[in-house]
Amino acid sequence: MSIMNFCVMTLFPEMIEACLGESIIGRAREKGIVNVDAVNIRDYTLDKHKKVDDYCYSGGAGMLMQPDPIVRCYDAVKEKMSIPKENKPRLVYVTPQGQTFTEKMAAEFAKEENLIFLCGHYEGIDERALELIVTDYVSIGDYVLTGGEMPACIMIDAISRLVPGVLNNEESAVGESFTHGLLEYPQYTRPAEYMGKKVPEVLLSGNHALIEKWKLEEALKRTYERRPDLYEEYIKNNELPPKTVLPDGTIVPKKRKMRKPEEN
Ligand code: ADE
Repeated sequence: MSIMNFCVMTLFPEMIEACLGESIIGRAREKGIVNVDAVNIRDYTLDKHKKVDDYCYSGGAGMLMQPDPIVRCYDAVKEKMSIPKENKPRLVYVTPQGQTFTEKMAAEFAKEENLIFLCGHYEGIDERALELIVTDYVSIGDYVLTGGEMPACIMIDAISRLVPGVLNNEESAVGESFTHGLLEYPQYTRPAEYMGKKVPEVLLSGNHALIEKWKLEEALKRTYERRPDLYEEYIKNNELPPKTVLPDGTIVPKKRKMRKPEEN
């Protein structure tokens, strides 16, 4: 069984614990499949007032995190994770200046045994610390948050659920929207009628082939309406079964057999 070890370097370790202590990730941590350790960068400053930030040389109002507490924290984290001194482990700096996090990236990170996150605060981090330790710059989207803790938790959640053993069978069956490239079709439970709204007839029919066709067509429709970018990509790269009704009403034709070339 593979175990994944996360370590988060942060000024606010309680935020990480508050986010990742419950539910599926909390259970995976209890089972020991996933470890999450939040380490306080402030514990590694040599300043007697525990100061970790200072003014920017380039001026401006904001404060910058100083390099030394971060690099000292990094060395301690490596030791804690039993990573040899000469190795440079994968370290993600969560920043709006990074590549946008995707499901594909989550799957890539899930292959690692150890993954370290560095969370910035204030105006950012002295560039020299980043140059020394960061391997990946990752953002969770084009908007700015007050710190990197929530993005780190989001990424750890998305990565952890791909670690074998974290999800049970029932859980892994749901919400797989991005793995197949389409958004999920709508889902219904009892009652069969609610506030005058009926569950689609086909789902009560027991006809599995028709239900599969309906699921695919609904997924196509939803993706076309909500994420046309994903829809285009999917249509380009996938062959659809004959008779599938596309969102614009056209029907996928049967593939015509190639005629044998005439012999002469
Ligand atoms: N820190 C602040 N905003 C962020 C974002 N959008 N992604 C990652 N880290 C951040």
